[in-house]
Amino acid sequence: METRILPTDHPELLHGVVDEAVRLLAAGEVVALPTETVYGLAADALNADAVAKIFAAKERPAFDPLIVHLPHKTDLNTVADVPEEIAAAVKRLIDRFWPGPLTLVLPKKNVVPDIVTAGLPTVAVRASSNLIFNRVARTLGRPLAAPSANHFGSISPTSANAVMAELGGRIPLIVDGGACIHGLESTIVRVENVGESKPRFVILRPGPITPDDLKPFGRPFFPGRTREHRSDAEVAPDGDAFMEAPGQMLSHYAPHTPMRVLESPHDFSPEPGKRYALLSYRGDPEEGYLNLANWVQTFILSPGNGKMPEAAVRFFFALRELDSLGVDEIIAEAIPERGLGIAMMDRLRKAAAKTQRV
Ligand code: TXA
Ligand code: MG
Repeated sequence: METRILPTDHPELLHGVVDEAVRLLAAGEVVALPTETVYGLAADALNADAVAKIFAAKERPAFDPLIVHLPHKTDLNTVADVPEEIAAAVKRLIDRFWPGPLTLVLPKKNVVPDIVTAGLPTVAVRASSNLIFNRVARTLGRPLAAPSANHFGSISPTSANAVMAELGGRIPLIVDGGACIHGLESTIVRVENVGESKPRFVILRPGPITPDDLKPFGRPFFPGRTREHRSDAEVAPDGDAFMEAPGQMLSHYAPHTPMRVLESPHDFSPEPGKRYALLSYRGDPEEGYLNLANWVQTFILSPGNGKMPEAAVRFFFALRELDSLGVDEIIAEAIPERGLGIAMMDRLRKAAAKTQRV
């Protein structure tokens, strides 16, 4: 299949590109679209045959459910039933964070085909703030199921070229909306009323909306960090993280190159004859990483002071770059686990977990 990339960087182009994307989606095809987080591979969420093409193009296992994107944030009750006991909390989150990079897991309505939710009784929902994405969704007038537009388990794409590298030849159209402004996938939250004054926000995937952002509205809670409310079946083999949903996998976001995350430069000494690349957060020579090895390449996420949003925007691009070098191993410095650093470390650990099993 020929994969077209259509640019949208002139106002006169946008109209035609949106129409073409809508035409394909209405015909039950898949289209890669920009969002504010990462590029998504979209299909009509209410058309099971169309959604099946997402799973086929990505080679995604059927047990990994998709996120449904609403044309308007006010459309929530078309796909989900919000339980009364959390309705006020959900409304406050939506008022504050939608449209934007926050995904809520809620009981699903019957119109959502089982293939979308992998048979779960819940659906993951968000409303994107990307203008191109929204023009497509609103013109189509239907919710869009859209996972990240990469091969299953691989690095999420933050540019049209990255989508082409992942899925070129497997999908008909990539709408080029430029670089994604956040660069990390949405934060996924399940809201629980646990009988306390504040609701509990179970963070199923950390992302651009940080625990600090959520705090004014309830109590952020990381299921992987405590054994509270877990059955043994939910505890992953290493006893650390667990699968809240089938898709919350321990290994994910992985380059093909083996990867390791270092908490300290003392944790690493290069093996003779091996070629290494370094992913550095700030590139500060005093931290002791830059001279640890004869790096084939050093990618510094936020040179100088270390700015989390800058690092996040460049994060998946950096992994892709370093993966393209053909080195023996990518060495990543640990990123401070605050703000967006929590989401980046989640991705680094999962990437390392996957590549180390190879
Ligand atoms: O920013 C994003 O969220 C991007 C853009 C395209 O919107 N999408 C994205 O989708 O990251 P994906 O499929 O790569 O990741 C969705 C995650 C999966 O890990 C899946 O397991 C989880 O959402 N998920 C989907 N439905 C769920 C549910 N009902 N309960 C718990 N987790 C769910
Ligand atoms: Mg993904």
